[in-house]
Amino acid sequence: MPPPQIYVERTLAIIKPDAMDKANEIEDIILRNGFTVIQKRKVHLSPEQASDFYVEHYGKMFFPSLVAYMSSAPIGVFVLAKEKAIKAWRELIGPTNPFKARETHPGCLRDTYGKDQTRNAVHGSESFLSAEREIRFMFHDSIVEPIATEQAVKIY
Ligand code: PPS
Repeated sequence: MPPPQIYVERTLAIIKPDAMDKANEIEDIILRNGFTVIQKRKVHLSPEQASDFYVEHYGKMFFPSLVAYMSSAPIGVFVLAKEKAIKAWRELIGPTNPFKARETHPGCLRDTYGKDQTRNAVHGSESFLSAEREIRFMFHDSIVEPIATEQAVKIY
């Protein structure tokens, strides 16, 4: 009898500049929460690259400060895999605003490591389409193709 199939999804996680001094600690939390790190790298985005990455927010009031911040210093970029990884990672990081996170999701990463709405420690893709786009954006030179269902069980 074939082993049960597990639907493994992947997502893009970023450790933002303000939390890079806690990158090892955050990576430990990632692993303890059952994510597999498929790829990782440290990058320093140019303002143009940060604008492209966050293009869906173009025109919003916070766009210039978001771009300036995300291009201000190196970030840690991870492709994470797990069953329902996109939702699981968004739950682990918590709401955008660390002050709100503190009230509604105590113990989430933005509660623990976030400083304010801009310096909120971590990023997570919000949907399957944005995860695939963001992974290609960050790892275009070393793409790992999406995990096929028949391979998924080999991850664990
Ligand atoms: S929205 O409008 O609801 O889609 O925005 P939101 O999901 O809350 O945030 C989208 C990303 O923008 C960042 N953000 C900010 N950056 C700088 N300054 C301010 N005021 C600000 N507000 C939101 C927020 O951290 C999100 O970044 P990512 O990397 O996607 O978490």
